[in-house]
Amino acid sequence: MLRSWSQLTLAFLSCCCSAVADVGDFAPCLQFFYSSWPPKGLPGTPICQRYNNNYQFATLYSRPRRSPWFSAYVYTVPTGKRPSSSWKFEPQLAHPEANGNMIPFPPGPLDQNVVESQAVNPDYINSSYTRGHLNPSSHHHTHEGRSSTFTLTNVVPQKCGSNDGPWENLEQTVNQTLAAYCLGQAYVVTGVIPYRSDEHWLRNHRVAVPEYMWSAYCCPKYNDSLPDHLKTHFPTYAAVGRNDPNSTEEIVPVNKTVKKAFRGYDVREMALETLEMYLKDRFSSVIRVFYQSCSASD
Ligand SMILES: *[C@@H]1O[C@H](CO)[C@@H](O)[C@H](O)[C@H]1NC(C)=O
Ligand SMILES: *[C@@H]1O[C@H](CO)[C@@H](O)[C@H](O)[C@H]1NC(C)=O
Ligand SMILES: *[C@@H]1O[C@H](CO)[C@@H](O)[C@H](O)[C@H]1NC(C)=O
Ligand SMILES: *[C@@H]1O[C@H](CO)[C@@H](O)[C@H](O)[C@H]1NC(C)=O
Ligand SMILES: *[C@@H]1O[C@H](CO)[C@@H](O)[C@H](O)[C@H]1NC(C)=O
Repeated sequence: MLRSWSQLTLAFLSCCCSAVADVGDFAPCLQFFYSSWPPKGLPGTPICQRYNNNYQFATLYSRPRRSPWFSAYVYTVPTGKRPSSSWKFEPQLAHPEANGNMIPFPPGPLDQNVVESQAVNPDYINSSYTRGHLNPSSHHHTHEGRSSTFTLTNVVPQKCGSNDGPWENLEQTVNQTLAAYCLGQAYVVTGVIPYRSDEHWLRNHRVAVPEYMWSAYCCPKYNDSLPDHLKTHFPTYAAVGRNDPNSTEEIVPVNKTVKKAFRGYDVREMALETLEMYLKDRFSSVIRVFYQSCSASD
């Protein structure tokens, strides 16, 4: 692997200098944000997620946490099955001269620069956490769109009770709501809330575990013949999900009657402003998810 990296570098330098790695700048992928306006208030490393030379979504990545703060994408009504997951990594995080396409992990030992710069599959194996997608494969129409979500920079350590329970239900509910009533583009941003103190990590202290996950969508053009229970869900709506049954209940209360496997992993749906209030409290910084709170018509 190491040798091929330098070959790749040479090949790259000898043929082209204008293309830049898609790290550090959202400029090439602003189409995944409502009004081309990335969320404000979170520091991190922008990644324009590119697969087979096509931009698919955008991620704000945290190098110290080796996991994302959020991923942003345009929802498209899904078809087909979840692809068999071939997990990928981002060579450009380790090698700035790489061309910015995510690539599947090769068999065999990994380049240490890659291991240093991002999470790798062994971080998750036997960890008691699943690889939880922020941008889920189930919100995409094309096979390529679905496959591109299987990059570990789009993934956080998520308890199975959340990933296979209430959080998956949320993804399905959002799918149905947007498929039925969103008439134009639906912009989705899904991110994490860290522990307030006493950060949790996968073993080896490499990958930070979030206390909560959050998600919000903005659908400026929608069918206004909404059923009563969806009247507050447009043009924008949000949710926060628990990722730790031991968390306190101020943000998301626990329903003690749900089946044990999913108990303590509740998701609370809420207005965008309520989500932004919790984000502000936890990050000690004003966080704006959508341009003009998704209220502008354009
Ligand atoms: C995971 O745990 C199993 C059973 O304890 C063990 O055989 C395997 O080697 C472990 N794998 C890793 C990658 O640690
Ligand atoms: C998403 O919603 C569409 C339209 O209702 C439906 O056909 C599809 O099966 C749903 N997909 C998932 C993964 O829930
Ligand atoms: C809007 O929703 C109503 C009620 O579900 C439906 O009858 C109508 O066809 C929808 N209009 C559009 C443009 O999708
Ligand atoms: C919750 O607390 C118990 C008891 O302190 C501990 O064993 C367990 O690992 C904690 N769970 C998580 C997800 O941190
Ligand atoms: C709690 O969960 C039970 C079983 O899933 C459900 O019937 C009930 O409506 C839930 N209660 C609340 C307050 O959400």
